[in-house]
Amino acid sequence: MNSKITLAISKGRILEDTVSLLERMGMAPVEDLNKTRKLLIDTEDPNVRVVVIRATDVPTYVQYGAADLGIAGKDTLMETQGEGIYELLDLGICKCKLMVAGRSELPDPGKRLKVATKYVRSAQQYFAQQGKQIEIIRLYGSMELAPLTGLADLIVDLVDTGNTLRANGLQPLEHIEDISSRLVANKASLKVRVGTLQNIVEQFRNAIEES
Ligand code: PRP
Repeated sequence: MNSKITLAISKGRILEDTVSLLERMGMAPVEDLNKTRKLLIDTEDPNVRVVVIRATDVPTYVQYGAADLGIAGKDTLMETQGEGIYELLDLGICKCKLMVAGRSELPDPGKRLKVATKYVRSAQQYFAQQGKQIEIIRLYGSMELAPLTGLADLIVDLVDTGNTLRANGLQPLEHIEDISSRLVANKASLKVRVGTLQNIVEQFRNAIEES
């Protein structure tokens, strides 16, 4: 086993805020993540290295212990079963909302609604709680296109500024969940490497309290 702690972080829109946080903690990756093709990178902290992966893969790395710690959006965590993963901290970065959205004219209430999303589990749970029967259409991106092309009546997607919805003539309709990035840990690592991990968690806590 590598003696360094491995922290899994996500590519994409979450990366910039994650790196700013790590910089404040003296844990910045030693290479520019926008330029390097390396995926396993040392940090300024000699005890910590990062792996840079797709957001949806972060829970998997942490669950199997390939990463001791991970930073992932609540949206991604809600889509995973969460076995072997412990949520430690709300980092308060990359805040947005998981919402139902669609065209302003509401679909026929008697009809079984088609909902396009990559957040299948969250959408199923939400509509089940509402007692609504829906058909899920799984997509992997650009969900806003689905109501415009007749693929679906509604979408379940992240809304930040609302610009993407507006640009496509869609409206936010129902709020499902407030989303932000969370620090998660592998449950076994938490037991085996408790002292080291507690120190790192404390560093995260101090950095978010300062901001
Ligand atoms: C996300 C989300 C929306 C958009 C919302 O997509 O899926 O499309 O951002 O942001 P806004 O409210 O500020 O416009 P992202 O750009 O992360 O790409 P994705 O489609 O690959 O998820």
